[in-house]
Amino acid sequence: MSPFRSGSPEGCTGARRTTEKMTRNPFSPINVGIDAVSIFVPHHYFSIEELAQIRNVNAEKFTVGLGCSKMAILGPTEDPVTMAAGAGRSLLDRSGIDPREIGMLVVGTESAVDESKPIAVYVHEMLGLSPRCRVMDLKNACYAGTAALRAAMAWAATPAAAGRKALVITTDVAYYDLASPGEPTQGAAAVALLVTQNPQLLIIDSQTEAIYTHEVMDFWRPTYRNSALVDGHFSLECYLESLRACYNMHKEMTGLSLADFRHVLFHTPFPKMAYKAHHRLFELEGGALALGMTEEDSFRWKVMPTLRAARELGNVYASSLFAALISLLEDGSLQVGQQIALFSYGSGSSSEFFTGRIGPAIASWNRNTGFSEQLTRRRRISYEEYLFYRAAYEQRNRDGYFVEDQPTEETPFLFLGIKKHKRQYAFLNPGRMEASASAAAAATEDAEQN
Ligand code: HMG
Repeated sequence: MSPFRSGSPEGCTGARRTTEKMTRNPFSPINVGIDAVSIFVPHHYFSIEELAQIRNVNAEKFTVGLGCSKMAILGPTEDPVTMAAGAGRSLLDRSGIDPREIGMLVVGTESAVDESKPIAVYVHEMLGLSPRCRVMDLKNACYAGTAALRAAMAWAATPAAAGRKALVITTDVAYYDLASPGEPTQGAAAVALLVTQNPQLLIIDSQTEAIYTHEVMDFWRPTYRNSALVDGHFSLECYLESLRACYNMHKEMTGLSLADFRHVLFHTPFPKMAYKAHHRLFELEGGALALGMTEEDSFRWKVMPTLRAARELGNVYASSLFAALISLLEDGSLQVGQQIALFSYGSGSSSEFFTGRIGPAIASWNRNTGFSEQLTRRRRISYEEYLFYRAAYEQRNRDGYFVEDQPTEETPFLFLGIKKHKRQYAFLNPGRMEASASAAAAATEDAEQN
């Protein structure tokens, strides 16, 4: 039996649906999508208002002009691997999944810690997943998360999955030069998605491909740099042009338009970008008269509830779109069968517009993702600490940096540094209060003793 409520997908204007929309079932033949989600929020944040004061900028430029409020900052023992493991562990624990049920782990990231070794292999060990598990990292700027989701969905729909589930983890640190225009949009977080057949949270249309790829130099990070380079205003144009192309393609293929979607989730490098994106769609649809509601109401209704993570965390790159989903779940108003649209943009550039329907387990997810609790546990840091933590982050690619620390239940995954060119981690084994070192760390210890 279909998990959807019968009848038309809910468009908030009650727009009339075309015959094509009525007969087409984009979700057949196999329902695939997101069964569970979780987020990892770093333990520290820096205030955007304080940053504006230090940079001698009118605070409203950052808080109103960009819509930012706080930026999540990694501590000295956090890195993209520990964030990814934190999100993955929380997902497995909260949904009661046995790690042996995971047959594929895909990490979407643009914050690689090694030119060769994937983050996914470290995370595989830290989560105690089965050796019979396909793992990989995918890189494609912020689009990497959607690319990972699509790869996992394709696998989950095959007989090879044999009832097993895929784990998609997005993990990124948005890091720009001090005092650069990108600085107030920095952030960090990881999101984990459980991807399965007959998903209980979000059934994703796997039959429509509204994709737009176009080579541009709008944002990039050369291998010799920790901080990204960006042609800021050009990147906004590239984003909006990709949105136009994907949206029109999707509309041509499905007949669905803005009025049909209860919510639209955008890749959100800063909250004002989602406002600009919604404005572009509103214009494409012919404005208020055609849509039967004002632009302000449409934005407030469809987009505002998706923006909490972008305000609280900053840009979280590949995680951004899924952090918008978590914001929406925390808003608590979703209902079974509602249709939502998602727009993923990765600089460089690749983008995709796709849709999903809210699944039957939504009642247990509304206001229950763990996101709000993690936000309240964070500590605000001073500007001096901000500079110190940046310096620690810069060490992630340098040999010799090392801190002594022990994992605890509060911080079960620690990045200790780099010894003999090997990254060193300490972590608690799944289900046990007993610390382990990563295989690489253990090998370094052995070599030192011999
Ligand atoms: P900027 O040039 O310093 O800012 O940096 P601005 O002068 O454009 O001002 C920003 C807004 O504040 C403007 O609003 C001003 O009017 C307003 P808008 O006209 O755009 O609506 N403003 C004020 N508002 C209220 N009170 C005031 C005031 N003063 C000015 N007193 C920029 C802005 C976005 C360029 C910069 O932050 C940047 O370079 N960010 C990084 C790049 C980025 O986020 N690009 C987004 C699209 S690309 C993307 O999303 C991909 C990405 O996530 C990477 C990936 O894919 O991996 C970045």
